[in-house]
Amino acid sequence: MEGFRVIGGEKIRGKARVQSAKNAVLPILAAAILPEGEIVIRDCPDIRDVYAMAGILGKLGCACQWNAGKMRIDPAGLHHWEMPDELSKQIRSSIFLLGPILGRLRRATVTYPGGCEIGIRPIDLHLKGLRALGVSIVEDGGVIYCDGMSMRAGDVYFDYPSVGATENVMMAAALLPGVTTVHNAAREPEVIDLQDFINAMGGRVRGAGTQLIEIEGVKALHGADYTPIPDRIAAGTLLCAAAMTGGEIELTNVRPWDLVPVCDKLREMGCRVIDGRSTVALAAPERLRAFSQLQTNPHPGFPTDMQAQMLAAACVAEGTSVIVENVFENRLTHVADLCRMGADIRVNGRTAVVTGVPGLHGMTVSARDLRGGAALVLAALAAKGESTVEHIELVDRGYERLEETLTALGGKIFRVQR
Ligand code: UD1
Repeated sequence: MEGFRVIGGEKIRGKARVQSAKNAVLPILAAAILPEGEIVIRDCPDIRDVYAMAGILGKLGCACQWNAGKMRIDPAGLHHWEMPDELSKQIRSSIFLLGPILGRLRRATVTYPGGCEIGIRPIDLHLKGLRALGVSIVEDGGVIYCDGMSMRAGDVYFDYPSVGATENVMMAAALLPGVTTVHNAAREPEVIDLQDFINAMGGRVRGAGTQLIEIEGVKALHGADYTPIPDRIAAGTLLCAAAMTGGEIELTNVRPWDLVPVCDKLREMGCRVIDGRSTVALAAPERLRAFSQLQTNPHPGFPTDMQAQMLAAACVAEGTSVIVENVFENRLTHVADLCRMGADIRVNGRTAVVTGVPGLHGMTVSARDLRGGAALVLAALAAKGESTVEHIELVDRGYERLEETLTALGGKIFRVQR
Protein backbone atom coordinates (compact mmCIF):
# COMPACT_ATOMS: atom_id res chain seq x y z
CA MET A 1 0.00 0.00 0.00
CA GLU A 2 1.28 3.47 -0.84
CA GLY A 3 0.67 6.67 1.06
CA PHE A 4 1.42 10.37 0.93
CA ARG A 5 3.42 11.87 3.78
CA VAL A 6 2.45 15.54 3.97
CA ILE A 7 4.04 18.26 6.05
CA GLY A 8 1.34 20.87 6.28
CA GLY A 9 1.50 24.63 6.44
CA GLU A 10 3.19 25.49 3.14
CA LYS A 11 1.36 27.86 0.81
CA ILE A 12 0.48 26.35 -2.56
CA ARG A 13 1.60 28.88 -5.13
CA GLY A 14 2.81 28.98 -8.70
CA LYS A 15 1.72 27.80 -12.11
CA ALA A 16 0.48 24.34 -13.10
CA ARG A 17 -0.80 22.74 -16.29
CA VAL A 18 -3.95 20.70 -15.80
CA GLN A 19 -4.14 17.10 -17.10
CA SER A 20 -6.79 15.87 -19.53
CA ALA A 21 -10.12 14.82 -18.06
CA LYS A 22 -10.38 11.29 -16.65
CA ASN A 23 -14.13 11.31 -17.20
CA ALA A 24 -13.68 12.31 -20.83
CA VAL A 25 -10.85 9.89 -21.58
CA LEU A 26 -12.55 6.76 -20.19
CA PRO A 27 -15.62 6.85 -22.47
CA ILE A 28 -13.39 7.96 -25.36
CA LEU A 29 -11.24 4.85 -24.84
CA ALA A 30 -14.42 2.76 -24.81
CA ALA A 31 -15.57 4.42 -28.05
CA ALA A 32 -12.17 3.71 -29.60
CA ILE A 33 -13.34 0.15 -30.31
CA LEU A 34 -15.99 1.45 -32.74
CA PRO A 35 -13.97 2.55 -35.79
CA GLU A 36 -12.20 0.54 -38.43
CA GLY A 37 -8.98 2.59 -38.30
CA GLU A 38 -6.43 3.49 -35.64
CA ILE A 39 -7.16 5.98 -32.86
CA VAL A 40 -4.57 8.28 -31.34
CA ILE A 41 -5.43 9.96 -28.03
CA ARG A 42 -3.04 12.79 -27.23
CA ASP A 43 -2.37 14.09 -23.74
CA CYS A 44 -3.80 10.84 -22.34
CA PRO A 45 -3.58 11.20 -18.54
CA ASP A 46 -1.17 8.88 -16.73
CA ILE A 47 -3.71 7.57 -14.20
CA ARG A 48 -4.69 4.13 -12.92
CA ASP A 49 -8.19 4.15 -14.44
CA VAL A 50 -6.62 4.63 -17.87
CA TYR A 51 -4.26 1.65 -17.32
CA ALA A 52 -7.26 -0.44 -16.26
CA MET A 53 -9.33 0.58 -19.28
CA ALA A 54 -6.42 -0.06 -21.67
CA GLY A 55 -6.02 -3.49 -20.01
CA ILE A 56 -9.65 -4.31 -20.73
CA LEU A 57 -9.36 -3.15 -24.34
CA GLY A 58 -6.31 -5.41 -24.69
CA LYS A 59 -8.24 -8.41 -23.35
CA LEU A 60 -11.03 -7.70 -25.84
CA GLY A 61 -8.51 -7.97 -28.67
CA CYS A 62 -7.55 -4.33 -29.32
CA ALA A 63 -3.88 -3.37 -29.56
CA CYS A 64 -3.07 -0.49 -27.18
CA GLN A 65 0.26 1.29 -27.12
CA TRP A 66 1.09 4.11 -24.79
CA ASN A 67 4.09 6.31 -25.35
CA ALA A 68 4.90 9.77 -23.97
CA GLY A 69 1.29 10.65 -23.20
CA LYS A 70 0.06 9.37 -26.57
CA MET A 71 -2.25 6.34 -26.59
CA ARG A 72 -2.66 4.43 -29.86
CA ILE A 73 -5.54 1.99 -30.12
CA ASP A 74 -5.98 -0.35 -33.03
CA PRO A 75 -9.40 -2.00 -32.65
CA ALA A 76 -9.02 -4.23 -35.73
CA GLY A 77 -8.45 -7.32 -33.57
CA LEU A 78 -11.60 -6.84 -31.43
CA HIS A 79 -13.24 -10.26 -31.24
CA HIS A 80 -14.22 -10.88 -27.59
CA TRP A 81 -17.67 -9.80 -26.52
CA GLU A 82 -17.32 -11.23 -23.02
CA MET A 83 -15.77 -8.90 -20.49
CA PRO A 84 -13.72 -10.91 -18.05
CA ASP A 85 -15.12 -10.95 -14.53
CA GLU A 86 -12.09 -9.61 -12.68
CA LEU A 87 -11.66 -6.75 -15.15
CA SER A 88 -15.28 -5.62 -14.97
CA LYS A 89 -14.92 -5.41 -11.21
CA GLN A 90 -11.60 -3.57 -11.36
CA ILE A 91 -13.09 -0.52 -12.98
CA ARG A 92 -16.72 0.50 -12.88
CA SER A 93 -16.39 2.40 -16.12
CA SER A 94 -16.17 -0.98 -17.89
CA ILE A 95 -19.98 -0.82 -17.89
CA PHE A 96 -19.92 1.66 -20.72
CA LEU A 97 -18.04 -0.79 -22.91
CA LEU A 98 -21.40 -2.57 -23.27
CA GLY A 99 -22.64 0.03 -25.78
CA PRO A 100 -19.62 0.01 -28.11
CA ILE A 101 -19.15 -3.80 -27.94
CA LEU A 102 -22.79 -4.20 -28.93
CA GLY A 103 -22.32 -1.57 -31.64
CA ARG A 104 -19.43 -3.53 -33.16
CA LEU A 105 -20.22 -7.19 -32.41
CA ARG A 106 -23.97 -7.13 -31.70
CA ARG A 107 -23.55 -9.09 -28.51
CA ALA A 108 -21.90 -8.50 -25.12
CA THR A 109 -21.59 -10.21 -21.76
CA VAL A 110 -20.56 -8.46 -18.58
CA THR A 111 -20.57 -9.25 -14.88
CA TYR A 112 -22.84 -6.99 -12.87
CA PRO A 113 -20.44 -4.29 -11.63
CA GLY A 114 -22.13 -4.04 -8.23
CA GLY A 115 -21.69 -1.15 -5.82
CA CYS A 116 -18.58 0.86 -5.10
CA GLU A 117 -17.16 3.11 -2.41
CA ILE A 118 -19.55 6.01 -3.03
CA GLY A 119 -22.86 4.19 -3.37
CA ILE A 120 -24.87 1.34 -4.80
CA ARG A 121 -24.61 2.70 -8.34
CA PRO A 122 -27.21 0.58 -10.12
CA ILE A 123 -27.08 0.18 -13.92
CA ASP A 124 -30.82 0.09 -14.59
CA LEU A 125 -30.64 3.21 -16.78
CA HIS A 126 -27.83 1.75 -18.90
CA LEU A 127 -29.92 -1.37 -19.48
CA LYS A 128 -33.10 0.65 -20.13
CA GLY A 129 -31.24 2.65 -22.80
CA LEU A 130 -29.91 -0.46 -24.52
CA ARG A 131 -33.31 -2.18 -24.40
CA ALA A 132 -34.83 0.85 -26.14
CA LEU A 133 -32.39 0.12 -28.99
CA GLY A 134 -33.74 -3.43 -29.32
CA VAL A 135 -31.10 -5.20 -27.24
CA SER A 136 -32.52 -8.20 -25.41
CA ILE A 137 -30.96 -8.53 -22.00
CA VAL A 138 -30.98 -11.50 -19.65
CA GLU A 139 -29.55 -11.15 -16.14
CA ASP A 140 -28.55 -14.46 -14.61
CA GLY A 141 -26.43 -15.08 -11.53
CA GLY A 142 -24.84 -11.63 -11.62
CA VAL A 143 -24.01 -11.93 -15.33
CA ILE A 144 -25.68 -9.74 -17.94
CA TYR A 145 -26.10 -11.32 -21.37
CA CYS A 146 -26.91 -8.82 -24.12
CA ASP A 147 -28.10 -9.92 -27.54
CA GLY A 148 -28.07 -7.09 -30.05
CA MET A 149 -28.93 -9.01 -33.20
CA SER A 150 -32.20 -7.03 -33.51
CA MET A 151 -30.70 -3.65 -32.65
CA ARG A 152 -32.24 -0.58 -34.27
CA ALA A 153 -32.29 3.15 -33.70
CA GLY A 154 -34.78 4.19 -31.03
CA ASP A 155 -36.10 6.75 -28.60
CA VAL A 156 -34.59 6.68 -25.12
CA TYR A 157 -35.94 8.54 -22.11
CA PHE A 158 -33.88 8.65 -18.92
CA ASP A 159 -35.71 9.22 -15.63
CA TYR A 160 -32.43 10.71 -14.39
CA PRO A 161 -29.68 12.26 -16.55
CA SER A 162 -27.05 9.57 -15.91
CA VAL A 163 -23.67 10.42 -17.44
CA GLY A 164 -22.61 6.83 -18.10
CA ALA A 165 -25.99 5.68 -19.43
CA THR A 166 -26.15 8.65 -21.83
CA GLU A 167 -22.66 7.85 -23.09
CA ASN A 168 -23.45 4.16 -23.43
CA VAL A 169 -26.42 4.86 -25.69
CA MET A 170 -24.43 7.36 -27.79
CA MET A 171 -21.80 4.68 -28.44
CA ALA A 172 -24.28 1.85 -29.05
CA ALA A 173 -26.21 3.97 -31.56
CA ALA A 174 -23.28 5.46 -33.48
CA LEU A 175 -23.32 2.58 -36.01
CA LEU A 176 -27.07 1.84 -36.02
CA PRO A 177 -29.05 2.82 -39.13
CA GLY A 178 -31.57 5.60 -38.38
CA VAL A 179 -31.73 8.34 -35.75
CA THR A 180 -31.62 7.55 -32.04
CA THR A 181 -32.86 10.23 -29.65
CA VAL A 182 -31.88 10.52 -26.00
CA HIS A 183 -34.30 12.56 -23.88
CA ASN A 184 -33.25 13.96 -20.49
CA ALA A 185 -29.64 13.27 -21.43
CA ALA A 186 -26.74 14.16 -19.13
CA ARG A 187 -25.29 17.56 -20.06
CA GLU A 188 -21.78 17.24 -18.63
CA PRO A 189 -18.88 18.69 -20.68
CA GLU A 190 -17.46 15.16 -20.93
CA VAL A 191 -20.62 14.06 -22.80
CA ILE A 192 -19.96 16.85 -25.32
CA ASP A 193 -16.37 15.65 -25.62
CA LEU A 194 -17.56 12.13 -26.41
CA GLN A 195 -19.86 13.58 -29.11
CA ASP A 196 -16.90 15.51 -30.56
CA PHE A 197 -14.77 12.36 -30.54
CA ILE A 198 -17.44 10.24 -32.28
CA ASN A 199 -17.86 12.99 -34.86
CA ALA A 200 -14.07 13.17 -35.34
CA MET A 201 -14.33 9.49 -36.38
CA GLY A 202 -16.99 10.40 -38.97
CA GLY A 203 -20.04 9.93 -36.73
CA ARG A 204 -23.13 12.14 -36.69
CA VAL A 205 -24.09 13.11 -33.15
CA ARG A 206 -25.64 16.44 -32.22
CA GLY A 207 -27.21 18.06 -29.20
CA ALA A 208 -24.74 16.97 -26.48
CA GLY A 209 -24.68 19.64 -23.79
CA THR A 210 -28.48 19.90 -24.01
CA GLN A 211 -31.13 17.52 -22.69
CA LEU A 212 -31.79 16.13 -26.16
CA ILE A 213 -29.10 14.23 -28.06
CA GLU A 214 -29.60 12.85 -31.56
CA ILE A 215 -27.37 10.12 -32.92
CA GLU A 216 -27.65 9.49 -36.63
CA GLY A 217 -26.08 6.11 -37.25
CA VAL A 218 -23.38 5.86 -39.93
CA LYS A 219 -22.24 2.76 -41.83
CA ALA A 220 -18.66 2.90 -40.53
CA LEU A 221 -16.38 5.08 -38.45
CA HIS A 222 -12.78 5.83 -39.31
CA GLY A 223 -9.61 6.40 -37.28
CA ALA A 224 -8.98 9.74 -35.59
CA ASP A 225 -6.40 11.78 -33.75
CA TYR A 226 -7.97 13.42 -30.70
CA THR A 227 -7.09 15.43 -27.61
CA PRO A 228 -9.63 15.23 -24.76
CA ILE A 229 -10.78 18.29 -22.79
CA PRO A 230 -8.93 19.42 -19.65
CA ASP A 231 -9.96 17.94 -16.31
CA ARG A 232 -12.27 20.38 -14.50
CA ILE A 233 -12.09 18.30 -11.29
CA ALA A 234 -8.28 18.14 -11.20
CA ALA A 235 -8.31 21.92 -11.82
CA GLY A 236 -10.84 22.51 -9.04
CA THR A 237 -8.79 20.39 -6.65
CA LEU A 238 -5.67 22.51 -7.26
CA LEU A 239 -7.68 25.72 -6.83
CA CYS A 240 -8.88 24.39 -3.45
CA ALA A 241 -5.28 23.57 -2.47
CA ALA A 242 -4.25 27.18 -3.04
CA ALA A 243 -7.43 28.52 -1.40
CA MET A 244 -6.96 26.43 1.75
CA THR A 245 -3.28 27.25 2.23
CA GLY A 246 -3.57 31.01 1.67
CA GLY A 247 -1.75 30.60 -1.63
CA GLU A 248 -1.91 31.91 -5.15
CA ILE A 249 -2.11 29.78 -8.28
CA GLU A 250 -2.40 30.07 -12.03
CA LEU A 251 -3.71 27.08 -13.95
CA THR A 252 -3.19 26.57 -17.66
CA ASN A 253 -5.01 24.09 -19.93
CA VAL A 254 -8.39 24.80 -18.35
CA ARG A 255 -11.77 25.79 -19.71
CA PRO A 256 -13.01 28.48 -17.28
CA TRP A 257 -16.59 27.91 -18.46
CA ASP A 258 -16.50 24.34 -17.06
CA LEU A 259 -15.30 25.67 -13.71
CA VAL A 260 -18.05 28.26 -13.15
CA PRO A 261 -19.83 26.45 -10.24
CA VAL A 262 -16.52 25.81 -8.42
CA CYS A 263 -15.09 29.31 -8.97
CA ASP A 264 -18.39 30.85 -7.89
CA LYS A 265 -18.14 29.08 -4.51
CA LEU A 266 -14.46 29.96 -4.14
CA ARG A 267 -15.32 33.63 -4.77
CA GLU A 268 -18.05 33.39 -2.14
CA MET A 269 -15.32 32.14 0.21
CA GLY A 270 -13.32 35.32 -0.39
CA CYS A 271 -10.88 34.19 -3.11
CA ARG A 272 -10.02 36.46 -6.02
CA VAL A 273 -10.53 34.34 -9.14
CA ILE A 274 -9.66 35.64 -12.61
CA ASP A 275 -10.58 33.73 -15.75
CA GLY A 276 -8.49 33.94 -18.91
CA ARG A 277 -9.14 32.22 -22.26
CA SER A 278 -7.62 28.93 -21.13
CA THR A 279 -6.34 29.92 -17.70
CA VAL A 280 -7.72 30.53 -14.23
CA ALA A 281 -5.83 32.43 -11.55
CA LEU A 282 -6.76 32.38 -7.87
CA ALA A 283 -5.48 34.41 -4.94
CA ALA A 284 -6.66 33.26 -1.50
CA PRO A 285 -7.64 35.60 1.34
CA GLU A 286 -5.86 35.33 4.68
CA ARG A 287 -8.75 33.19 5.91
CA LEU A 288 -11.54 31.67 3.85
CA ARG A 289 -15.18 32.53 4.62
CA ALA A 290 -17.89 29.88 4.85
CA PHE A 291 -20.31 29.55 1.92
CA SER A 292 -24.03 29.52 2.64
CA GLN A 293 -25.02 26.31 0.87
CA LEU A 294 -23.60 23.90 -1.68
CA GLN A 295 -25.86 21.31 -3.31
CA THR A 296 -24.43 18.77 -5.73
CA ASN A 297 -26.53 18.18 -8.84
CA PRO A 298 -26.17 17.00 -12.44
CA HIS A 299 -24.44 19.54 -14.72
CA PRO A 300 -24.74 22.54 -14.80
CA GLY A 301 -25.26 22.08 -11.05
CA PHE A 302 -22.35 21.81 -8.66
CA PRO A 303 -20.31 18.67 -9.55
CA THR A 304 -20.45 15.88 -7.00
CA ASP A 305 -16.80 15.13 -7.86
CA MET A 306 -15.82 18.46 -6.22
CA GLN A 307 -17.96 18.05 -3.10
CA ALA A 308 -15.29 16.44 -0.91
CA GLN A 309 -12.65 19.04 -1.77
CA MET A 310 -15.03 21.95 -1.05
CA LEU A 311 -16.03 20.28 2.19
CA ALA A 312 -12.35 20.16 3.17
CA ALA A 313 -12.06 23.87 2.35
CA ALA A 314 -15.14 24.65 4.46
CA CYS A 315 -13.42 22.96 7.42
CA VAL A 316 -10.92 25.83 7.72
CA ALA A 317 -13.27 28.67 6.67
CA GLU A 318 -14.74 31.17 9.10
CA GLY A 319 -18.41 30.41 9.78
CA THR A 320 -20.79 27.57 9.00
CA SER A 321 -21.22 25.97 5.57
CA VAL A 322 -23.94 23.51 4.58
CA ILE A 323 -23.33 20.83 1.96
CA VAL A 324 -26.01 18.58 0.49
CA GLU A 325 -24.90 15.57 -1.59
CA ASN A 326 -27.77 14.84 -3.97
CA VAL A 327 -26.08 12.64 -6.58
CA PHE A 328 -24.59 9.72 -4.63
CA GLU A 329 -25.97 8.30 -1.40
CA ASN A 330 -22.70 7.46 0.33
CA ARG A 331 -20.30 10.21 -0.56
CA LEU A 332 -19.40 11.72 2.81
CA THR A 333 -16.99 9.04 4.00
CA HIS A 334 -14.10 11.54 4.19
CA VAL A 335 -15.90 13.33 7.04
CA ALA A 336 -14.76 10.95 9.78
CA ASP A 337 -11.06 11.45 8.97
CA LEU A 338 -11.47 15.21 8.61
CA CYS A 339 -13.01 15.25 12.11
CA ARG A 340 -10.00 13.32 13.42
CA MET A 341 -7.87 16.13 12.00
CA GLY A 342 -9.84 18.60 14.11
CA ALA A 343 -12.71 19.55 11.80
CA ASP A 344 -16.19 20.24 13.18
CA ILE A 345 -18.70 18.48 10.91
CA ARG A 346 -22.16 17.13 11.66
CA VAL A 347 -23.74 14.76 9.17
CA ASN A 348 -27.42 14.04 8.87
CA GLY A 349 -28.20 11.73 5.94
CA ARG A 350 -26.89 13.45 2.82
CA THR A 351 -26.31 16.81 4.55
CA ALA A 352 -23.08 17.92 6.20
CA VAL A 353 -22.98 21.02 8.39
CA VAL A 354 -19.40 22.26 8.62
CA THR A 355 -18.40 24.79 11.25
CA GLY A 356 -14.99 26.13 10.29
CA VAL A 357 -12.12 25.85 12.77
CA PRO A 358 -9.02 28.10 12.83
CA GLY A 359 -6.78 25.15 11.94
CA LEU A 360 -6.53 21.38 11.42
CA HIS A 361 -3.79 19.16 12.84
CA GLY A 362 -1.74 16.43 11.16
CA MET A 363 -2.95 12.82 11.45
CA THR A 364 -2.76 9.42 9.76
CA VAL A 365 -5.87 9.14 7.62
CA SER A 366 -7.06 6.81 4.91
CA ALA A 367 -8.52 7.48 1.45
CA ARG A 368 -11.79 5.61 0.90
CA ASP A 369 -12.56 6.87 -2.58
CA LEU A 370 -10.86 8.96 -5.24
CA ARG A 371 -12.19 12.45 -4.48
CA GLY A 372 -12.51 11.87 -0.74
CA GLY A 373 -8.83 10.89 -0.81
CA ALA A 374 -7.98 14.13 -2.61
CA ALA A 375 -9.90 16.06 0.07
CA LEU A 376 -7.74 14.44 2.77
CA VAL A 377 -4.59 15.46 0.89
CA LEU A 378 -5.88 19.06 0.80
CA ALA A 379 -6.67 18.98 4.51
CA ALA A 380 -3.16 17.62 5.21
CA LEU A 381 -1.59 20.45 3.18
CA ALA A 382 -3.50 23.02 5.23
CA ALA A 383 -3.00 21.28 8.61
CA LYS A 384 -0.37 22.00 11.21
CA GLY A 385 2.20 19.21 11.46
CA GLU A 386 2.67 15.95 9.63
CA SER A 387 -0.01 13.71 8.13
CA THR A 388 -0.02 10.45 6.24
CA VAL A 389 -2.78 9.76 3.75
CA GLU A 390 -3.01 6.00 3.24
CA HIS A 391 -4.43 4.12 0.26
CA ILE A 392 -3.46 6.70 -2.29
CA GLU A 393 -3.85 4.09 -5.01
CA LEU A 394 -7.43 5.41 -4.96
CA VAL A 395 -6.16 8.95 -5.56
CA ASP A 396 -3.91 7.65 -8.38
CA ARG A 397 -7.07 6.45 -10.15
CA GLY A 398 -7.76 10.01 -11.25
CA TYR A 399 -4.81 12.32 -10.50
CA GLU A 400 -1.61 12.22 -12.51
CA ARG A 401 1.24 12.09 -9.94
CA LEU A 402 -0.51 14.53 -7.61
CA GLU A 403 2.52 14.68 -5.29
CA GLU A 404 4.75 15.96 -8.12
CA THR A 405 2.24 18.65 -9.09
CA LEU A 406 1.90 19.82 -5.49
CA THR A 407 5.65 19.70 -4.83
CA ALA A 408 6.25 21.93 -7.85
CA LEU A 409 3.75 24.35 -6.26
CA GLY A 410 5.64 24.48 -2.96
CA GLY A 411 3.83 21.70 -1.07
CA LYS A 412 5.75 19.25 1.11
CA ILE A 413 4.34 15.91 0.03
CA PHE A 414 6.13 12.61 -0.49
CA ARG A 415 5.04 9.21 -1.80
CA VAL A 416 5.86 6.55 0.77
CA GLN A 417 5.47 2.75 0.95
CA ARG A 418 3.40 1.63 3.94
C1 UD1 B 1 -19.92 9.74 -13.85
C2 UD1 B 1 -18.49 10.06 -13.50
C3 UD1 B 1 -18.34 10.25 -11.99
C4 UD1 B 1 -19.33 11.31 -11.51
C5 UD1 B 1 -20.75 10.98 -11.98
C6 UD1 B 1 -21.75 12.09 -11.66
C7 UD1 B 1 -17.24 8.91 -15.23
C8 UD1 B 1 -16.28 7.84 -15.56
N1 UD1 B 1 -17.63 8.99 -13.94
O1 UD1 B 1 -20.23 8.50 -13.19
O2 UD1 B 1 -17.01 10.67 -11.72
O3 UD1 B 1 -19.30 11.37 -10.11
O4 UD1 B 1 -20.77 10.78 -13.40
O5 UD1 B 1 -21.36 13.27 -12.23
O6 UD1 B 1 -17.63 9.70 -16.07
N2 UD1 B 1 -27.73 5.77 -11.47
C9 UD1 B 1 -28.79 4.90 -11.41
N3 UD1 B 1 -28.94 3.98 -12.41
C10 UD1 B 1 -28.07 3.91 -13.47
C11 UD1 B 1 -26.99 4.81 -13.52
C12 UD1 B 1 -26.84 5.74 -12.51
O7 UD1 B 1 -29.57 4.93 -10.48
O8 UD1 B 1 -28.26 3.05 -14.34
C13 UD1 B 1 -27.53 6.74 -10.37
C14 UD1 B 1 -26.20 6.56 -9.66
O9 UD1 B 1 -26.28 5.54 -8.69
C15 UD1 B 1 -25.96 7.92 -9.09
C16 UD1 B 1 -26.56 8.84 -10.16
O10 UD1 B 1 -27.44 8.04 -10.94
O11 UD1 B 1 -26.65 8.07 -7.89
C17 UD1 B 1 -25.53 9.47 -11.07
O12 UD1 B 1 -24.80 8.49 -11.73
P1 UD1 B 1 -24.19 8.66 -13.19
O13 UD1 B 1 -24.49 10.02 -13.73
O14 UD1 B 1 -24.57 7.49 -14.01
O15 UD1 B 1 -22.64 8.57 -12.85
P2 UD1 B 1 -21.55 7.69 -13.58
O16 UD1 B 1 -21.73 7.76 -15.06
O17 UD1 B 1 -21.46 6.37 -12.93
